[in-house]
Amino acid sequence: MEEERILDGEELSEDRDQALRPATLAEYIGQEELKHNLNVFIQAARSRGEVLDHVLLYGPPGLGKTTMAMIIAHEMNGNLVTATGPAIQKSGDLAAVLSTLEAGDVLFIDEIHRIPRQMEEILYSAMEDFFLDIVVGKDGASAHSIRLALPPFTLVGATTRAGDLSAPLRDRFGIVLPLEYYSQNELEQIVSRTSGILESDIEDVAISEVARRSRGTPRIANRLLRRIRDFAQVYNEGVISQDVADDALNRLKVDQLGLDRVDRKYLEGIIYRFSGGPVGVEALASSIGEDATTLEDMYEPYLLQTGLINRTPRGRIATRKAYEHLHIALPDDTQNAYVPVQDEEEGE
Ligand SMILES: Nc1ncnc2c1ncn2[C@@H]1O[C@H](COP(=O)(O)OP(=O)(O)O)[C@@H](O)[C@H]1O
Ligand SMILES: [Mg+2]
Repeated sequence: MEEERILDGEELSEDRDQALRPATLAEYIGQEELKHNLNVFIQAARSRGEVLDHVLLYGPPGLGKTTMAMIIAHEMNGNLVTATGPAIQKSGDLAAVLSTLEAGDVLFIDEIHRIPRQMEEILYSAMEDFFLDIVVGKDGASAHSIRLALPPFTLVGATTRAGDLSAPLRDRFGIVLPLEYYSQNELEQIVSRTSGILESDIEDVAISEVARRSRGTPRIANRLLRRIRDFAQVYNEGVISQDVADDALNRLKVDQLGLDRVDRKYLEGIIYRFSGGPVGVEALASSIGEDATTLEDMYEPYLLQTGLINRTPRGRIATRKAYEHLHIALPDDTQNAYVPVQDEEEGE
């Protein structure tokens, strides 16, 4: 179990546990600005009797994009039809999904950046004009296109990489919503809510501890809580005290900032193998035996957010805070050359 990756983007079946997903906008904790704006757009569309404009949700894994897509369908009283970018590789795949839509449906396409460029074209004409042009027949004289009218629908796209969408596709989304990492207070509310649903007995100090070590991410908070609950059940008659939480998190190799082994390997890689950087993500990834895309999508956003690394035009650098966190002495020359002082983060 210690080998289990706490940050793995892949959803474990337990994460699909519908009971843990907030079902309405009111139940959804945090993302206050996003919720406020979305609520206005939903109310306005509903009072006009129209479908909601297309929505793009983007941000790191586990912040609540899929949950929000479900909530949008719920709030708009529409059926949710789901698809994923990797599963849409041919125009037939896309036509099959689009042709099932009924008026008012919400089509959720997860990992929308993984749709091939040619499919993007079909998709954005469908989004704009509610038409689908399909070419039938092989080639030459027999090839012709059929135009299929689509009912009014809302496309909700989710992605960890908004920059990978082509500009024309991105422009077809009237509502673009970035998701942010959650604050300590919001994560405490999430941990508290989840322990209530799981009916686990958790002390307030333990709630704070789990929240602090969840990398600002609800999925990780929930996942850690489940594992800690196992430790509590075996060692403490089910009561999650601070000691049990701390001990379990240490055993799970989740440190005080919520970093796991890959995060630490990443930072140590920059520091020991590339003298603190700058280093390109590809070179770093191959030197520590990880996939560059995984590092970029799942690990770097949080390391940047917490000020442990910086991005420069020449690559990534480890900051002073990274050296301090890992208890590695700052080399004198590095101190001046690359390491910006992270004043506002001090004393955490
Ligand atoms: N705002 C939130 N409030 C409470 N729980 C949340 C919230 N956002 C996400 N979660 C929990 O975190 C889990 C992961 O969220 P999900 O929507 O699957 O993330 P994403 O699609 O962005 O990777 C969900 O199963 C849900 O239980
Ligand atoms: Mg998701």
